Amino acid sequence: MKNFFSVADVDDLSALVKEALALKATPNAHRTLGQHKMLGLVFLNPSLRTRLSTQKAAMNLGMDVMVMNMDKDGWALETRDGVVMDGTTVEHIREAAAVMGTYCDILGLRSFPGLKDRKEDYSEDLFNKFSTYCKKPLISLESATRHPLQSLTDLITILENTTVASKPKVVLTWAPHVKALPQAVPNSFAEWMCKAQQQGLVDFTITHPEGYELDEHFTKGATIITNQQEALKNADFVYVKNWSSYQEYGKILITGRDWMPTPEKLKATNKAKIMHCLPVRRDLELASALLDGPDSLVIQEAGNRVWAAQVVLKRILSNL
Ligand code: CP
Repeated sequence: MKNFFSVADVDDLSALVKEALALKATPNAHRTLGQHKMLGLVFLNPSLRTRLSTQKAAMNLGMDVMVMNMDKDGWALETRDGVVMDGTTVEHIREAAAVMGTYCDILGLRSFPGLKDRKEDYSEDLFNKFSTYCKKPLISLESATRHPLQSLTDLITILENTTVASKPKVVLTWAPHVKALPQAVPNSFAEWMCKAQQQGLVDFTITHPEGYELDEHFTKGATIITNQQEALKNADFVYVKNWSSYQEYGKILITGRDWMPTPEKLKATNKAKIMHCLPVRRDLELASALLDGPDSLVIQEAGNRVWAAQVVLKRILSNL
């Protein structure tokens, strides 16, 4: 593996998950692999899980880690080419990424979308430029359109909790929120689950209100239903997530809590396990009775972030 940006960077999902679960069983088995190697984690946006789990994963492999909070501690970045920098931006991404590349063997970057200009966000211009100019392997810590470390974590969590003899039914359901959130987590979850479905690992359904259709690029092969109760029937895993509209880009189209998963709604499932990437707004996105209940996987899922990051770092280190 050279970079980690999307599911396209992985061929055999089952093999990757097995390797991650082997790391979970023996976290320190490859302690010398990353010795004298530096990981740089660059955040243009806040993070709890991604920041800490990726640091822990790197330490388990013997790496050193530097964290740069560009949003708070860095110079204001210019990403456009050919502009006279006589405004508020202080440093161009060409120099900033290149300099960080000289300090690090592998870099990670988190950069959320602006949610104003769909074409610009979906071009992944900032991420692509950073990748070009840093000249080092680059891991997405969540970009404008995808969150691959989260999606790999989710697949690990689903496969380690699957008890049914046949393929588990996995349902991604839209849920309410008061803020306009990116489509990165659901896009990414959808493309990972569609590939997992192709590889015979899961059956995948998406449910959302009309107007919340995701970019078809990410959902090819999924069953898509706008009746949430119908979609939830016989589900083994329910993945709860809000996103803003892709069509009416960045907009919130409906308010109210009708789409919030509750114990009553979950009666239609096959005693489904509940998943959410966190952070979660209690009793807005997801009923606290489900979050705190025996079928909630959210803490185990967040814990598995370490093994997703560690298997990705291990594969990239092995290729340096
Ligand atoms: N799920 C996730 O990426 O969490 P953070 O935003 O806290 O890193």
